[in-house]
Amino acid sequence: MSRSTNNPTGPKSYFVKSFGCQMNVYDGERMAELLDDEGLAAVDNAEAADLVILNTCHIREKAAEKVYSDIGRLRRDDGSTPMIAVAGCVAQAEGAEIPRRAREVDIVVGPQAYHNLPELVAKAARGEDALDTDMPAASKFGKLPQRAKQAPSAFLTVQEGCDKFCTYCVVPYTRGAEVSRPWGAVLDEANALADAGAKEITLLGQNVNAWQAEDEKGREQGLDGLIHALDRIEGLERIRYTTSHPNDMTQGLIDAHGEVGKLMPYLHLPVQSGSDAILKAMNRSHSVESYLAVIERVREARPDIAISGDFIVGFPGESEADFEATLEIVRATRYAQAFSFKYSARPGTPAADMEDVFVAPEIADERLQRLQALLNEHQIAFNQETVGKRTRLLLERDGRKPGQRIGKSPWLQSVHLETDAPIGAIIDVDIVSAGPNSLAGTLPERAAA
Ligand code: 5AD
Ligand code: SF4
Repeated sequence: MSRSTNNPTGPKSYFVKSFGCQMNVYDGERMAELLDDEGLAAVDNAEAADLVILNTCHIREKAAEKVYSDIGRLRRDDGSTPMIAVAGCVAQAEGAEIPRRAREVDIVVGPQAYHNLPELVAKAARGEDALDTDMPAASKFGKLPQRAKQAPSAFLTVQEGCDKFCTYCVVPYTRGAEVSRPWGAVLDEANALADAGAKEITLLGQNVNAWQAEDEKGREQGLDGLIHALDRIEGLERIRYTTSHPNDMTQGLIDAHGEVGKLMPYLHLPVQSGSDAILKAMNRSHSVESYLAVIERVREARPDIAISGDFIVGFPGESEADFEATLEIVRATRYAQAFSFKYSARPGTPAADMEDVFVAPEIADERLQRLQALLNEHQIAFNQETVGKRTRLLLERDGRKPGQRIGKSPWLQSVHLETDAPIGAIIDVDIVSAGPNSLAGTLPERAAA
């Protein structure tokens, strides 16, 4: 079975640890599939692996610094280290600097080059330098194996990179320019995922709603066209997409939320700040008003939609009044879920040069706490509104208690309940209680018909 015979001294087992966003999770799964194909065995912890891949995130300073402490922790009691590969965005950003700073690193591979992983592993096994951070014009996707057995909920990267150049963000540098995968390739992968057991597909992209391609008839299609095509895949029950930019929310995509039953009522639409002055300094190229107008149109199309967002506090130049405006947009939107971060200066980005107006860390801390308290309040309120309702749940995994399973509601809430229905089933559930991060449900009483 094994094709690793061409590499007899190489690693026999591997462990992939992915940090950061869902696109990294997807890349981690694809790297695992490549190594499976090479005959390596997956193990579930770094201690047991001959090859450890750290699939890294560069978005904030803490995430990037973490890599070096993680590398240090891979050293074993006898002083040995496994073969170590640093993949992902830190690999892209720091390249050859990584093995200079951490000599135990054997392989450095960027997010656009990981289809070359088997070759890099073979090189490293021969003691050669193994670094690949190229961003080739030809897509890596065509060189990856067919999708294998799937959990009920699968990721599918359809778009990578970003041309928006928000002034705080490293993504345009680490992931490159916006590229959409072709229509046929995406549909083939979606069909393969559904055949392999996926009931839900989340389309991924740094700017997923900027996705565009020609369909088989040569017509230009946007994400809404793709969603309509996915709607026709038998066995696929749920469609989601993330992350979107407000300026790429076309009317067609908004309408799809009202037209496609499989498209789940959830939209992650980052705004970052509620102050027009800060949005301008961030180069977001939308205003508070235009963002709120998009939200309003989405809610018209799908009144029960859950809105989620990302926020940055303490961006250079942010005054107390700017921050108050962020609280205001939160109150106006009432997010069902949100992610909020303290601004982190990233080398090479324009905002990192705005040192003269940096916000003091203790002020940023205090703002983050106030923002998170408000977001939490809304998240709990949203969850509590679902108590007493009957909804559909996609069962994803076993719970901690025997007989318990955990599933996802249409609004991306985790719900636990007791049932013997199998993982992958979509069942009715009555929500009986709700906390900030999870809900409890029961099976509906079987009413006599
Ligand atoms: N500092 C803090 N947060 C950031 N994000 C992106 N870059 C930075 C940064 N330099 C946040 C944004 C983005 C999310 C993925 O991470 O909110 O939407
Ligand atoms: Fe970064 Fe802005 Fe692009 Fe999002 S839209 S990836 S925040 S540059």
